[in-house]
Amino acid sequence: MSSPATLLEISHGCSLRALNSFGLPATAGTLVHIRSDADVRRVLDHPALGIAPKLVLGGGSNLVLTRDPQAVVLQVEVMGRHLVETRDDAWIVEFGAGESWHGAVAWTLDQGWPGLENLALIPGTVGGAPVQNIGAYGIELADRFESLDAVDLVTGRSVTLNARACAFGYRDSVFKQTGFGGLAGKSLVTRVRLRLPRPWQPVRAYLDIERRMAETGNLAPDARTVFDWVCAIRRAKLPDPALLGNAGSFFKNPVVSAEQCRDIIGRDPHLVHYPLADGRFKLAAGWLIDACGWRGKRVGGAAVYERQALVLVNQGNATGAEVLTLARAIQESVYGRFGIRLEPEPVVV
Ligand code: EPU
Repeated sequence: MSSPATLLEISHGCSLRALNSFGLPATAGTLVHIRSDADVRRVLDHPALGIAPKLVLGGGSNLVLTRDPQAVVLQVEVMGRHLVETRDDAWIVEFGAGESWHGAVAWTLDQGWPGLENLALIPGTVGGAPVQNIGAYGIELADRFESLDAVDLVTGRSVTLNARACAFGYRDSVFKQTGFGGLAGKSLVTRVRLRLPRPWQPVRAYLDIERRMAETGNLAPDARTVFDWVCAIRRAKLPDPALLGNAGSFFKNPVVSAEQCRDIIGRDPHLVHYPLADGRFKLAAGWLIDACGWRGKRVGGAAVYERQALVLVNQGNATGAEVLTLARAIQESVYGRFGIRLEPEPVVV
């Protein structure tokens, strides 16, 4: 019988530069390609790998690497996509966690199962989507989520989690939480099932989409049109990581009390703010950063994107330390002017 290690594909001294969308330099001492739940168990059964700390890597699109990971890197490459079930009220489709997110959106649309079009062109993998509950243009992953399979990185047991167990929040889930019951670093997502509601209804209540409807006079766009609009809006606003390294929005949009919102508007009437159901307000972090004059500013090779101040970019040879220095300077200046602490969105290693 083969030993667990002989069945695994393991690389040593592996550059991670091409494996993180920021294009930051770092090297994995050991990187294991994970293609199934069984591969995870093989890692756990391995005498050396089993006891080492683990870093799960999907598309690397929400990651800031500031140093070489002091952990075995588990690169998730579980593939596959298929229709699981056709219900009266939904199509249920399943994807391997290693599938590209945008590829999944385009494929469902091609199959005639719309519902993910507002989430087009988000970088990363399907497995990363629930981890940070990706969202854009009026939808978040949680709105289309059915369940997922994950492997416990201590016991090797495969489990299925529903939406409740995933504890989705704004760019948050149980997989990012470190406290009691949190699964950060403890679990590897292998498959995700999505629920695409029938009949399909467009999600249009978002300023950028409403603007397109007004411009084109098309008030009842089909799913393909929404997909094309979202791709065009993103291409105009956000840098393509293949051309300019980045991790999307670097900070979450902060939520403040009605009183604090009123206080800021008293001094800055143009503040971009959105009311929430609980009476509080979500503020546009990009606007706050922009108002502090950060657009185009840089630290070494790290810079604030010219067209969207919420996005930090790698101008070619940035280090993770430069990205963090820039991020901290932005946090300090936004706090100094508005009294708001911006919280980073990506995971920092
Ligand atoms: N704004 C400025 N200056 C800037 C940037 C933004 O004034 O430099 C203003 C814009 O004019 C707009 C407002 O801020 O009025 C909000 O900007 P935008 O519509 O571009 O959206 P966002 O709040 O910056 C969020 C998500 C994005 C998502 C878009 C569209 C977060 C942290 N970011 O960005 O998600 O694509 O809405 O739904 O919630 C990501 O998470 O990586 C991401 C890209």
